[in-house]
Amino acid sequence: MAREIHTVGVVGLGTMGAGIVEVFARNGVDVVAVEITDAALDRGRDNLTGSTDRAVARGKLAPADRDALLSRVTFAVGLDALREVDLVVEAVPERLDIKRRLFADLDRTCKPATILATNTSSLSVTEIAAATGRPEQVVGVHFFNPAPVMRLVEVIRTVVTAPEVVADVEALCARLGKTGVTVDDRAGFIVNALLLTYLNQAAGMLESGHVGREDLDTAMRLGGGLPMGPLALLDLIGLDTAYEILETMYRRGGRDRRHAPVPLLRQMVTAGWLGRKSGRGFYSYEKPGSAVVVPDGWAPSPAPAGAAAQVATVGVVGSGEPAERLAELFTGAGYDVVAVTGELDRLAGADLVVTAGPGDPDADRALFTALDGICKPGAVLAASTTRLPVIDLAMATGRPADVLGLHFLDPAPDRALVEIVHTVRTAPTTTATARAVCERLGRAAVVCADRAGYVVDALLLPYLNDAVRMLEASYSTADDIDHAMRLGCGYPVGPFELLDRIGLDVALATLRDLYRQSREPGLAPAPLLEQLVTAGRGFRVHPGD
Ligand SMILES: NC(=O)c1ccc[n+]([C@@H]2O[C@H](COP(=O)([O-])OP(=O)(O)OC[C@H]3O[C@@H](n4cnc5c(N)ncnc54)[C@H](O)[C@@H]3O)[C@@H](O)[C@H]2O)c1
Repeated sequence: MAREIHTVGVVGLGTMGAGIVEVFARNGVDVVAVEITDAALDRGRDNLTGSTDRAVARGKLAPADRDALLSRVTFAVGLDALREVDLVVEAVPERLDIKRRLFADLDRTCKPATILATNTSSLSVTEIAAATGRPEQVVGVHFFNPAPVMRLVEVIRTVVTAPEVVADVEALCARLGKTGVTVDDRAGFIVNALLLTYLNQAAGMLESGHVGREDLDTAMRLGGGLPMGPLALLDLIGLDTAYEILETMYRRGGRDRRHAPVPLLRQMVTAGWLGRKSGRGFYSYEKPGSAVVVPDGWAPSPAPAGAAAQVATVGVVGSGEPAERLAELFTGAGYDVVAVTGELDRLAGADLVVTAGPGDPDADRALFTALDGICKPGAVLAASTTRLPVIDLAMATGRPADVLGLHFLDPAPDRALVEIVHTVRTAPTTTATARAVCERLGRAAVVCADRAGYVVDALLLPYLNDAVRMLEASYSTADDIDHAMRLGCGYPVGPFELLDRIGLDVALATLRDLYRQSREPGLAPAPLLEQLVTAGRGFRVHPGD
């Protein structure tokens, strides 16, 4: 029988704490909300009233319910007000020294029965618990941002957490309408171990000039099917918080280089660009705390701009479904389409030629050499399905300035995207022509450099591989990991559902390309993935298998 929790203390009312207060108070729990100074307390109170006022304005909360919610919250500076609460959840900055000091103080202040919980994203709950005289009553309760919206709570038990304390917290999560997933104390738990690794790689892509800011976010929203782009999400999380989480994951998670925060993050944090909360991060916001993005001087793309050439006739080379879909797409947009498999001579008058296949490196190269001999000067030659770097195809022709990649992604009808892949030899006018064509096709287009996986696959596949490694390590189950990513990040599908959908063989081939190019040990395909492909199986047995 779980112990009923009537009153809760929340310490730290920043990005997460204010939302956690709201979650409790909304569900009939009395809350003592604590900050470190009067000014921080006022800010925390504003965070809470701002959020509840927005909920009322959007019709999600009745005014009377907002008033009742706010009446359940008492605000205080200092820990004394927490003496009699049944549970404390802390949401102070992600630093072990701060949290250990706080827990030692809470241990001295709170009544003996109080459960002490940390909202840490990556720090060792065990080390935090060891700062108290009641480690069996210490647990991790990891809410997600924004806490009132996201349904997941990761409950972290240490080797000494009492099972009844875990049961009490799980019952409380259910009362809050949250889904609790209980896991052991490992850096990043489920969600951040997968999410922050991906976000760090995305920031690295921007830093290296592989892709521009808006294009990167657009690519992952549309092509990756994610609710937010990675840079916008980093701004929401807070760059300082993300930085600290990554630092800890690096230290605790086997010193994986992919967890080492990219230098750009450190620079931005030092500059005070913390994301939404400071009004400036990867994007600029109307004011601190606002979600409204305002224009700034950030260059839209690292690719040089050029003038687009006219395109009237489009050649589509290849057989099978990808080529047929391309021909339909161009015809639908009003282009004269010449679709060919063998008789390449018919492409002599085309302004743009898009190849879909053959897919074999030597055959792809030979095809581009043949197109070079046939197509008129200035025609743009684009590869849509090659596994080769685009530069290999460009150098198989005598006109590398006219060659680029056009990678069409259709994760869902309303999310169609084209990655325009430019090489070091692609002329700005070729890229501009491709952009103009995509616009006429009604497709969002992003411009990126010529690297394995372009943008979407290069970020998505390592994340999926990390999920397989997590399963391999028996840290959690495929169902719980899928569940956690859907509820914690708002992803439409979990990583194992997505892998089954993409096809494990396709995912494995892309991962091998990524690994071959980067030699990054963390990108080596997970053995379990290799084995399932060899066995011809997916992660789940689907009807009809
Ligand atoms: N930001 C996210 O998206 C996110 C998501 C899940 C979990 N978390 C975790 O939540 C915790 C808080 O992160 P955040 O992003 O809300 O940080 P934040 O910087 O937005 O807020 C921290 C708050 O703690 C207050 N504070 C500092 N020291 C204090 C003390 N000794 N006593 C009382 N208050 C104190 C600060 O005044 C500030 O208001 C971290 O452990 C973080 O890893 C963050």
